Amino acid sequence: MTGPKVLSVASELFPLIKTGGLGDVAGALPRALGQLGVEVRNLLPGYPAVLERLKSVQPLRPLPNLFGGAGRLLSGKQDGLDLLIIDAPHFYGRAGHPYLAPDGTDWPDNAERFAALGWLAAQIGQGLLANWRPDIVHAHDWQAGLAPAYLALSGRPRPPTVLTVHNLAFQGQFPAALLDRLNLPHSAFAVEGVEYYGSIGFLKAGLFFADRVTTVSPTYAREIQTPAFGMGLEGLLRARADRLTGIVNGIDEEVWNPETDPHLPHRYSARTLGGRASNKAHLQRRFGLAQDPAAPLLGVISRLAWQKGMDLLLGALPSLAAMGTQLAVLGTGDEALEQAFLQAARAHPGAIGCVLRHEEPLAHQLQGGADAILVPSRFEPCGLTQLYGLRYGAVPIVSRVGGLADTIVDANEAALLDGVATGFQFAPVTVEALEGAVGRAVELHRDRALWRRLQRRGMTRRVGWSRAAEQYAELYRSLLHSRSLTS
Ligand code: ADP
Ligand code: GLC
Repeated sequence: MTGPKVLSVASELFPLIKTGGLGDVAGALPRALGQLGVEVRNLLPGYPAVLERLKSVQPLRPLPNLFGGAGRLLSGKQDGLDLLIIDAPHFYGRAGHPYLAPDGTDWPDNAERFAALGWLAAQIGQGLLANWRPDIVHAHDWQAGLAPAYLALSGRPRPPTVLTVHNLAFQGQFPAALLDRLNLPHSAFAVEGVEYYGSIGFLKAGLFFADRVTTVSPTYAREIQTPAFGMGLEGLLRARADRLTGIVNGIDEEVWNPETDPHLPHRYSARTLGGRASNKAHLQRRFGLAQDPAAPLLGVISRLAWQKGMDLLLGALPSLAAMGTQLAVLGTGDEALEQAFLQAARAHPGAIGCVLRHEEPLAHQLQGGADAILVPSRFEPCGLTQLYGLRYGAVPIVSRVGGLADTIVDANEAALLDGVATGFQFAPVTVEALEGAVGRAVELHRDRALWRRLQRRGMTRRVGWSRAAEQYAELYRSLLHSRSLTS
């Protein structure tokens, strides 16, 4: 039996363009689904970075009027992905960050830029391409949030839709005055529609109109139905609870494999963990840290943002230094946090180092050399860095929220006795609790044999995509099944 045809719609896709975990997921899930016979085509904006990296593309059809400008739809195959690229220079022909102008503010026409993504997804869903029509349209995050809305509002036969929420904090809210410009009917500007606190809400629209909503862990799926995590959308999410599920992300086990990783100075496996020592020495040089093999080296690979609890980490730095830890931070984001980490590095020479850039190879090197990976997030839909940490033997120290709660087993006494611990969790998300967890880790790190066991257990955990891909495939099947019962 051939599987369903799915149009996946996302604004990022690794290895072509990525600002965070969305890119990793959008790039890896389609390949895992492909293994299960699900045929996925990926619709993606043609940013310069994407067009430059494409090895071969064919023009598929002209787009003479895409919200006021001309473009083309291109098709290509690369890295095992079947791509549909929107080459629309008036929207995407800008180098650098996909959402931000060089001055760090949102591009002023982001509403149109990403409405165009959703609009085209809807058109393809309703037969724009003569020889390929998807059975399902699967949209990711606010940037693709209007796809389910355009389809539902068209009044024409349409495929069923799925919206996956990777992060409720980014909602895509724009002035109501843009309704006409975005081809949205005025009747849709309602609570039962695209309206959200007086604005047009792209994510809200997707949540309201999608046939199914998923998010990237069961705990986050529960959390977002509460005011503390729902960011104002908890009411709608509760109303749609019977259509909402949490599926924990996997990681790409080929891209993230310490045995074959081309970015690592020394490759290793769960059996040959000793090789990590020279990776650690390499990291200490790169981050300007003291060449001390025994010092517990904590790594951070993160957007520097409130979500990620980076201010809490800053608050914990004096006690972390007192515990004799080293800290290597790879991150970009809030200017104030960047400055604070720079200052901390100056205040603790040899103990704290930071690289404030996006540097994919260095992210791999940190996972391959740090003793532990710190993820003190205030909320975390899934989190991927702790999964990379498991795979690389960088023991995760995480707050007990969202996907972090679902993927790490705390090394408490019982879990250690049972042989199931994989890392350290703390709650509540405070400086003190973070310090407590690091303290426990530092103590356990002194027992080399015990620490090795913790690392090995993490490294042998199943963190690939196969389980999640099965769950998405099942979701698609159930959607098509209920569709065939009602039509
Ligand atoms: P989020 O998507 O919320 O940022 P995730 O943990 O899901 O968090 O994914 C973050 C991804 O971005 C990981 O692949 C991580 O390695 C990567 N990353 C974050 N910051 C950097 C950076 N400065 N350089 C390289 N990779 C980074
Ligand atoms: C988001 C979330 C992160 C998640 C990623 C991929 O950016 O912040 O927790 O892992 O999307 O789903």
